Amino acid sequence: MAGALGTAAVENGDVSAEVLQRVRGVAGELVLRREGDVLQVISDGVFLMDTRDGRSERLLVRETVAASAAAPARVLVGGLGVGFSLLEALSLPDVGEVVVSELEPQVVRWHTDGPLREITRGAVEDARVRVVLGDVRDLLAASAGGFDAICLDTDNGPDWLVRSTNSALYDADGIALAARALAPGGALGVWSAGRSAAYEQRLRAGFATVARHETEVARGEPDVVWVARSPR
Ligand SMILES: C[S@@+](CC[C@H](N)C(=O)[O-])C[C@H]1O[C@@H](n2cnc3c(N)ncnc32)[C@H](O)[C@@H]1O
Repeated sequence: MAGALGTAAVENGDVSAEVLQRVRGVAGELVLRREGDVLQVISDGVFLMDTRDGRSERLLVRETVAASAAAPARVLVGGLGVGFSLLEALSLPDVGEVVVSELEPQVVRWHTDGPLREITRGAVEDARVRVVLGDVRDLLAASAGGFDAICLDTDNGPDWLVRSTNSALYDADGIALAARALAPGGALGVWSAGRSAAYEQRLRAGFATVARHETEVARGEPDVVWVARSPR
């Protein structure tokens, strides 16, 4: 159930943040806040994404598409968040179509008719984009060989989940599921707010070629993107 847009409620003593909307989402309470120029999405009490930076979310898509063998590439972006990854996909010349997988219908509405439109400026309605609502795992399972580049950013990383059931994306079966959804020569990119030796080991067990990209951030621990490539 959507709350009223534009109310100036304050989150838990954080006086500088204005709650724009609070709704019951698929994975719990979903909140959109504004703090100065920055929009923030909070899912079930866990910070999900804000509009402050976006360098590593863009790098996720750029490096994954670059690692894939195809042009034009069929790209999966899961999930939408504030839309930096989607914008990067649409900016790349080698991208032919972009499927966006998003669990929360309200997140998509914030882009079509809400405050996040100021970030993505109608990108979700671009002719190259198809938005698929639901769990990205279901989409992967139904997409054998269907993507040249799969860009996963659904959590704060394999070891810092936003939704406990998302753990199934990062175990050996989840890695195999993504691998099956790739066309020959395709690439899987995974975003994380920190290193994970255990996840990287599982990824290397599933793919012969894995690269790790790190982006320095003010928080301290770098943002990490793994890009794994399937054989041609
Ligand atoms: C960290 S944000 C994505 C940030 C995005 N890369 C960007 O540039 O803004 C995570 C998004 O994934 C969505 N999500 C979480 N679990 C999901 C799942 N299992 N399937 C599809 N979307 C999911 C969340 O609702 C949220 O919109």
